[in-house]
Amino acid sequence: MTATKGLEGIVAATSSISSIHDGVLAYRGINIDDLAERASFEETAYLLWYGKLPTQTQLAFLQQQLSDFAAIPEPLLAQLKLFPSDANTMAVLRTAVSALALYDENANDISRESNQIKAIKLQAQIPTIIAAFARIREGKEPLAPLKNVSIAHNFLYMMTGEEPDVVAVKALDQALVLHADHELNASTFSARVTIATLSDIYSGITAAIGTLKGPLHGGANEAVMKMLSEIGSLDNVEPYILNKIANREKIMGFGHRVYKNGDPRAKHLQKMSRQLGLLKGDSTLFEMSARIEELVTGQKGLRPNVDFYSASVYTMLGIPSDLFTPIFAISRLSGWSAHILEQLDDNRIIRPRAEYTGLINQKYIPIDLR
Ligand SMILES: CC(C)(COP(=O)(O)OP(=O)(O)OC[C@H]1O[C@@H](n2cnc3c(N)ncnc32)[C@H](O)[C@@H]1OP(=O)(O)O)[C@@H](O)C(=O)NCCC(=O)NCCS
Repeated sequence: MTATKGLEGIVAATSSISSIHDGVLAYRGINIDDLAERASFEETAYLLWYGKLPTQTQLAFLQQQLSDFAAIPEPLLAQLKLFPSDANTMAVLRTAVSALALYDENANDISRESNQIKAIKLQAQIPTIIAAFARIREGKEPLAPLKNVSIAHNFLYMMTGEEPDVVAVKALDQALVLHADHELNASTFSARVTIATLSDIYSGITAAIGTLKGPLHGGANEAVMKMLSEIGSLDNVEPYILNKIANREKIMGFGHRVYKNGDPRAKHLQKMSRQLGLLKGDSTLFEMSARIEELVTGQKGLRPNVDFYSASVYTMLGIPSDLFTPIFAISRLSGWSAHILEQLDDNRIIRPRAEYTGLINQKYIPIDLR
């Protein structure tokens, strides 16, 4: 038995949800370039869950369900107010999603029907949790979700208390489409491992959130913004990046396990970053990002991934950097839950082996002789 570090190249599941072939990412066979340009996030979530694009009636019904489920239980809201205001936002989300199970009498029902409803509920409630905590930590009252608006619109409204402009809603909605699913990424794998023991969907999503939190996965978008802030100006990009390269340090937002010739999602976020810069009349973040890309790709041959331009996009939308990874979770909830449903449709516990590299034939030494 020989281990493959990081399970690179190991095919660990069959799935009909999303695919990556020749650098093309598709959800249910539809190229994400097409979805990013034309589909809403709600349509995309429907596609991931049900395997096909919704009709007008089906989409309207889903939007109604998302509206109906968006409020969070009062005791959970009270709990959010007790958390330290400087708590890590992903830790807050992970704790809150785990706590949601306590207020759902069907939490442990793992039938497809029940899990499908819970997926929609979680999709509706996660944005409310994040926006509520964002306000609470600033000493503001959380806001009740609006009825009959998109998830992107509702999230921006619940965070700021203001009606968001259409450009901001469109940009966030497109970012949500692009992050919705990504084959067997680390957090999705976590969700599948957890549910495969016949645990419950809340446990699967809680595990996935904990996995997404790491800077090698979803946490990279926040780390990119930290880097942009440290760099501070266009003039400082070159010395900063060249120094990192010389010290063989990782540059966040670059590289990918699967894409070696570029992440197909990055170009959409790059375009969005450029457009938002022009619209705001301040393209500094975009220009700094573009220069970083030029240097890192030129010197290391590494291309930006989905997280790289997300950082400047979200900042230009007025979103604090520690909400970037929670926003990734809003989107990826659709993929995680689709994978949970798929795993349970044809389940077998996921239990690989380890290559043992420790000592052998050791004797037990009684404690008083050690
Ligand atoms: C995404 C990532 C975790 C993939 O990891 P992986 O498949 O295990 O690839 P490795 O870390 O083994 O990288 C292979 C080589 O490229 C280098 N490399 C990869 N990403 C790099 C980066 N962002 N900056 C600098 N060097 C990088 C590694 O140092 C390694 O070089 P070596 O062979 O000389 O040791 C990795 O590219 C990374 O850490 N990127 C930064 C974090 C990030 O943006 N994550 C979001 C992913 S969507």
